[in-house]
Amino acid sequence: MTHEIAVIPGDGIGQEVVPAAVDVLEALDPEFTFTEAEAGDAVETETGEALPEETYELAASADATLFGAAGETAADVILPLREAVDSFVNVRPAKAYPGVDAVRPETDLVFLRENTEGVYAGHEDRLTKDVATLTRVTTQSASRQLAEFACEYVDADGFTIAHKANVMRETDGLFRDTVASVAEERGVATDEVLMDAFATRVCLDPTQFDVVACPNLAGDVLSDLAAGLVGGLGLLPSANIGEQRALFEPVHGTAPDIAGRGVANPAATIISAAMLLEYLDYGEEADAVHAAVESTLAEGPRTPDLGGDASTADVTNAIIDRL
Ligand code: NAI
Ligand code: MG
Repeated sequence: MTHEIAVIPGDGIGQEVVPAAVDVLEALDPEFTFTEAEAGDAVETETGEALPEETYELAASADATLFGAAGETAADVILPLREAVDSFVNVRPAKAYPGVDAVRPETDLVFLRENTEGVYAGHEDRLTKDVATLTRVTTQSASRQLAEFACEYVDADGFTIAHKANVMRETDGLFRDTVASVAEERGVATDEVLMDAFATRVCLDPTQFDVVACPNLAGDVLSDLAAGLVGGLGLLPSANIGEQRALFEPVHGTAPDIAGRGVANPAATIISAAMLLEYLDYGEEADAVHAAVESTLAEGPRTPDLGGDASTADVTNAIIDRL
């Protein structure tokens, strides 16, 4: 079966790392058709719209989307794109690689972040000059959907629920109780950790944790913390998964300081492409990409962010050669 892949490079180094990841996918010769579309600062300057209707429609109809990054318009692009794929979970692996300088080289975590609600549901008000408020939303249905995904993701190995239900008793209480009860129904083990304690514990010893399910804001902050532990923004991939489709993107932005020089590290986007392969049931190909990236990171060539002097193309070709 042929899969439709939407390709949205966006701005800055998105224009360099997304084509690199497409080259890797094409080298594996899966039954994919690629359709490219525009989004971001450049298209906004040109047309007045950061996310043209046809780009939204493409992501909303494709089987999977590979996105790079958008500049100042990032929020106007990525939030609607996540909505276009109806994403309920953001999967964010944070893994250290041999050969890459990391604060905690033993880190190997995956965050499953609720992707639609919590304090990011958009219910903020400015009541008076002095007072602003925010309404935090938790639903049983969204918590359940995240928990069901987590149970599939980990098999019977179990996962950790990070929350702050001792203070936010209703919202995080509902989140924790729902996630724990779904896991129990499925025979999946869970343990719990308060999100602030998690922040300390993961820095001291990240091997205590494996897969961590969290509400939206906690997942955003704690996964960025873990990104610090593995030492390379240029290496972190992510997946926004929906019921019917999904969007894959590096965690990094447009890197204006190095854009246009051909030296961006393509690894985060290529690992995101491996997650895309896995999502579309190309498991062997996905494993091959992970292995090729890992051995390239260990043995080189490396881009300047990792202390090397290779170009994006050198690294991409080295990865393709190892496939
Ligand atoms: P950034 O991630 O673009 O860059 C931070 C630092 O990391 C820079 O020094 C950059 O050179 C380096 N870096 C990032 N990715 C790299 C790669 N693949 N290879 C080598 N070095 C890399 O974050 P920053 O500077 O805060 O934001 C720049 C622009 O990107 C802003 O306009 C921001 O709005 C946008 N942005 C977009 C995101 C998205 O579209 N999802 C996410 C984050 C930022
Ligand atoms: Mg963030």
